[in-house]
Amino acid sequence: MTTLGPIDMTTIARHARRKGSSFFPPIALDAHGAAPIYRQLYDWFQKAIVEGRLRPGQRIPSTRGLAAELKVSRIPVLTAYEQLFAEGYLETFKGAGTTVAASIPRLETVPASRINRTASGQTRPPRLARRMKLAIATPVASVPPPGAAFGSCQPSLKEFPFQIWSSLVARHARHMKTTSMGYGDVMGQPSFREAIAEYLGAARGVHCDPSQIMVVAGSQHGLQITARTLLDEGDPVWMENPGYPRARRAFWMAGAKLVPVPVDREGLDVEAAIRRCPHARAAYITPSHQFPMGVTMSATRRMQLTNWASHADGWIIEDDYNSEFRFAGHPVAALQAFSDERVIYVGTFSKVLFPALRIGYLVIPKALVKAFCVARDNMDIFPAPLLQEVLADFIREGHFARHIRRMRMLYSSRRQKLISALRVILDARVEITDTDAGMHLVVLLPQDVDDVELGRRAEAAGLAVTPLSSCYMRAPGRKGLILGYGGIDERTLESNVKKLSRALRML
Ligand SMILES: Cc1ncc(COP(=O)(O)O)c(C=O)c1O
Repeated sequence: MTTLGPIDMTTIARHARRKGSSFFPPIALDAHGAAPIYRQLYDWFQKAIVEGRLRPGQRIPSTRGLAAELKVSRIPVLTAYEQLFAEGYLETFKGAGTTVAASIPRLETVPASRINRTASGQTRPPRLARRMKLAIATPVASVPPPGAAFGSCQPSLKEFPFQIWSSLVARHARHMKTTSMGYGDVMGQPSFREAIAEYLGAARGVHCDPSQIMVVAGSQHGLQITARTLLDEGDPVWMENPGYPRARRAFWMAGAKLVPVPVDREGLDVEAAIRRCPHARAAYITPSHQFPMGVTMSATRRMQLTNWASHADGWIIEDDYNSEFRFAGHPVAALQAFSDERVIYVGTFSKVLFPALRIGYLVIPKALVKAFCVARDNMDIFPAPLLQEVLADFIREGHFARHIRRMRMLYSSRRQKLISALRVILDARVEITDTDAGMHLVVLLPQDVDDVELGRRAEAAGLAVTPLSSCYMRAPGRKGLILGYGGIDERTLESNVKKLSRALRML
């Protein structure tokens, strides 16, 4: 056996002095126990060393001697000692036999229950990063489970073409190539990125080529990579107010200083943002269908924002989360089409297909691609290829476009039915904001109605409405409810609106 760890002459002398001081430990082996003999021996020595019953430098019996004493074969003793050597619990010196490693300190653990107790005897939460503590104290509303009535941004999962999808998954799983099993491209699978670039060019007017597309694990991941790449601690970022709470948290957790900017019928108020903080590093916006209010950013505001970005050397982070569902007029092109050098475009398959895919993409200005690659490599290195290959075929074979067309019709009809039911059943005091896109709408309430309490009551009645005020950065926000209609069950729509009406009347 070899000597482990650094050796000095004093240590060797101390070991030499201990020569002859070994003892036979009181090990009670269980020949019929579940653990093999070598494991029982290993466990006994490891515990004795950790607990300080065997002290650093203390000599232990030879394998031959211990095997004879315990009346077992020498092999399990050798195996146990080898493991203890390998892990650094034992060492051996020429002429000094085998000893407990001299460098092992005493384990001075204090029971967690004692450390985490306040003077008054209460248990303290574990120590966390300061930012994390604040994040926990300001929770983001949890996403309702599929099928929850009025859950916002829930697609209709029942309509998903399972047959086609599962045969594509099977095809790719069966013919998986070894090239798809190693470390892959930090940006994602080339075939998938080509399919995305084609789709974005045709459907969203996005200017890009596949080399600018980075496949990510949903928009949330894309926002984190973006924040990590572009922002330093304390950098100001314009945030729509009301806005998407998860985006807010992503930037805030990355150290950004959030600057709330009001949203009106034309989207983010760019002039107000410039007045408040002209030198922001970035602006986060949902121009196609503002979350949660549903408005589309006007051409004037788009131009103002783009001009600001180029003069202030700022970045525009465009979250185009469900632009596919526009029910009237022509599709509105992405803002990226105005300014492909200033916009980081964030897209997701969560709404248009299903959230559990966890696949989205970024369209990155060419000058930033290298930096984004470094940031991404530092996070999860690269995206898993299998579902990217499946999705590439799903898009290329036309299933994606077909699904979008079907869902657009379905959501349009569900939206109409929800609006009609709300108009008939709901209290006359509420105002339905009637935008013609997306998968949710907002019902505005009188300011004296506590929408959080209403949300709680609705939840108790089995509904999953989101209070509008939870989307504001500071209280008091406007009071209202966000009602998703993408995944609603039309058969229970009326009765669910009645439940909502009852909850409202009880306030
Ligand atoms: C504004 C906005 N962006 C993005 C998303 C989707 O996020 P992800 O792709 O992380 O599922 C949502 C979902 O509710 C959203 O409301």
